[in-house]
Amino acid sequence: MNEKILKFRQERENLNQKLLSKENNADILKRIFAADTYSYQERNKGLSAKQKEIVGLATSMVLRCDDCIKYHLEKCHELGVNNDEMMDVFGLANLVGGTIVIPHSRRAIEYWEILNQDRPSPSPFSEETKVKNYEQITKQIKSLLAGVDNDIAKMASINEVLKNNISYFDWVGFYLWDKDKLVVGPYQGKHGCLYIKNGEGVCGRAFKQQETIIVEDLHKLNNQQDISGKILHIACDPNSKSEIVLPVFKNGEIIGVFDIDSFHKKAFDKIDQKYLEKILSWF
Ligand code: SME
Repeated sequence: MNEKILKFRQERENLNQKLLSKENNADILKRIFAADTYSYQERNKGLSAKQKEIVGLATSMVLRCDDCIKYHLEKCHELGVNNDEMMDVFGLANLVGGTIVIPHSRRAIEYWEILNQDRPSPSPFSEETKVKNYEQITKQIKSLLAGVDNDIAKMASINEVLKNNISYFDWVGFYLWDKDKLVVGPYQGKHGCLYIKNGEGVCGRAFKQQETIIVEDLHKLNNQQDISGKILHIACDPNSKSEIVLPVFKNGEIIGVFDIDSFHKKAFDKIDQKYLEKILSWF
């Protein structure tokens, strides 16, 4: 893990221990800390945990507390806030707080970039969190698809549940084989490529090989081609940093691919593959 992140976490932890130590008998402080923890937790109503962290970050920027800013940047990163969303937070904080917030924004962007190079921990990427989320989500999808026999309806429903429940999924959708090429099908996210040739990009390769492909760092594939001159990755959105593409079969025949992009590096691993393949087996 990056030294700046480690140093910040360790110092925060050590000093919190000092502050709340038994010898200090800090009963008021303990109550305030407990209220703080309680306030940022997600409940059945009101703001989501991610929205609360965004509010926490924006207000910390306006109040110009660098430690608070770092803390909320970490939480925002853990909860899947993407770069475009973060730039909106910086913009609004500077608008409300005035140009005196600019130096704090400079330090904030530096820390945000460091966080984006590192996989956060604990995070939506941790094995434990992924398994817990997928267990619940696969049940939800299974019951949603029960009795549905239309493929497009199934695809649209799968996209909706995944995109709105997994914070590191930024583009989720299907490409379906049509005569001589893959054509975009139901998806959630910004519009991307409409057509993809067999064997081209991550989608075309997963289709051709009829197997799942995980790319940990898409930017490393930029401008790269295979021996036949086909590009390895089609950059629809420059913000996408990692990708998983799975073949979709129906009655034993490949009908297309399921593509997910994340704005985080190394977002996908064997756990995503296992659960996503399970979901696709319901076609
Ligand atoms: N990146 C994909 C193209 C599809 S978009 O990501 C939505 C690829 O290389 O095949």
